[in-house]
Amino acid sequence: MRIGALGPDLPIWGLLAWVLLTGGAVPAGADGGYASLEGHGGPVKGVAVSADGNYALTASFDYSVGFWDLRSATLIRWLEGHEAAANAVAFLPDGRRAVSAGDDFDLILWELATGRALRRFEGHRGKLIAVTVSPDGRLAATSGWDGVVGLWPLDRPLGEPAPPLWLKGHRANVNDARFSADGRDLYTASYDGTIRRWDVATGAMEEIVVEHGFGVNHLVLNEEQGWLAYGAVDGAVRAIELATGAELADLTTERRPILALAASPDGQFLAVGDGEGYITIIDTDEWVITRDFRAAVRGPIWALHYDHDGGRLLAGGLADEVALWPVGGGRDALFAEGRRRFHTPAEEMPNGERQFVRKCSICHTLEPARKPGGARRAGPTLHGLFGRRAGSVPGYRYSEALTGSPVVWEAETINLLFEKGPDHFTPGSKMPMQQIARLADRQDLIAYLREHTGPRTELRSGAQAAGGTE
Ligand code: HEC
Repeated sequence: MRIGALGPDLPIWGLLAWVLLTGGAVPAGADGGYASLEGHGGPVKGVAVSADGNYALTASFDYSVGFWDLRSATLIRWLEGHEAAANAVAFLPDGRRAVSAGDDFDLILWELATGRALRRFEGHRGKLIAVTVSPDGRLAATSGWDGVVGLWPLDRPLGEPAPPLWLKGHRANVNDARFSADGRDLYTASYDGTIRRWDVATGAMEEIVVEHGFGVNHLVLNEEQGWLAYGAVDGAVRAIELATGAELADLTTERRPILALAASPDGQFLAVGDGEGYITIIDTDEWVITRDFRAAVRGPIWALHYDHDGGRLLAGGLADEVALWPVGGGRDALFAEGRRRFHTPAEEMPNGERQFVRKCSICHTLEPARKPGGARRAGPTLHGLFGRRAGSVPGYRYSEALTGSPVVWEAETINLLFEKGPDHFTPGSKMPMQQIARLADRQDLIAYLREHTGPRTELRSGAQAAGGTE
């Protein structure tokens, strides 16, 4: 497989001109070309593809895991069970089960045919940011921000305890882990700047493989070719020879941090996603960059995974959708279609809209709750916000702080919410602590909300509230 002609030295304006000339001519297609997985209500932090290439899994900030038919780019079902953002997903080798891990500190084992959570593994004391399954499918390794790695047995009969083996030794958050092909070793990357190798049978640390100094976010292992590659918070992308630890290549660019790494199934290509929204593709035969493109209008690339034949690259970031970039040979027109969608230059937005897009839209829509896309966010829809009693959107699971609150949402109460912060204005609320310091920003935001949240909600008599109406 060879990648198309787009070299790294083609200047960005040339690229744009080329996109303008060719973009949009080719429809998104089910032919393995450009398409996307749509339906999540928040950023996507993790992606995985089944061994046969037919299915994909996505983990999102909206707390849910998506199970997709990759051939048609359609959703099969949502897997609901995490109580906070879902960060990572992996298929088991049988293709019938999967695991996911999240900000709720838990690992969940799923039965994909039914969407049932077969088992919830608890014990970590920090967020789980990565999960990987051993080649024989019997173990899952979780990377925890509590500084430990959990090795969880996936094959215990339900009802029997399944205690983990803890790998302890990293001095900070663990960010990633990979099993060796024989399943005997586990390599782990940590914010403490090291990559370590552990004996899976005993849990003993065997070796510090890399001492990078800056936090290491991701690693990829290619034992057949004898190398390990990693990406770090300082933007470093390096490969070392496994046998000697000697540096093979340094493909660091000026962009940082590195937030995603994926190897093509044949091991030849390495895709790198960074904090500035670019994807870089490296040919590991020669250790040269063969493609480097901006893959998101705004925000980072958090999740990358090749499909089974390396023809497409699944990319997740701040957008609600997962892009399927056609990176295999001969698909440049489709590639341009993707660029057109994901790289429309950001127009100057008025301040109120910018406040909403930057600070609220990750968790709230403005659509009526029953509309598709109106429901799948961490927070309730803000449609009909003005005149609405706090905690009253049907079907949304509020905290008691809001269901029991006398507050009615008006310009004044929304202003107070962000002047004081939800923790002070509605103590106990599960909306994260945040304040908007400048009065002008709050006013612009409120004016934007008034214009875009639809008609006022009229309080029925008796529901008249004590808390500030205008
Ligand atoms: C990280 C997620 C997140 C962000 C960002 C966020 N919210 Fe929220 N918001 C929530 C959650 C969760 C709730 C429900 C709180 C509860 O039940 O205690 C909520 C509740 C609210 C409510 C009360 C709604 C009701 O029906 O009573 C308002 C109003 C609100 N948010 C406005 C905003 C605005 C405006 C912004 C941007 C400045 C914002 N939120 C940013 C998560 C978020």
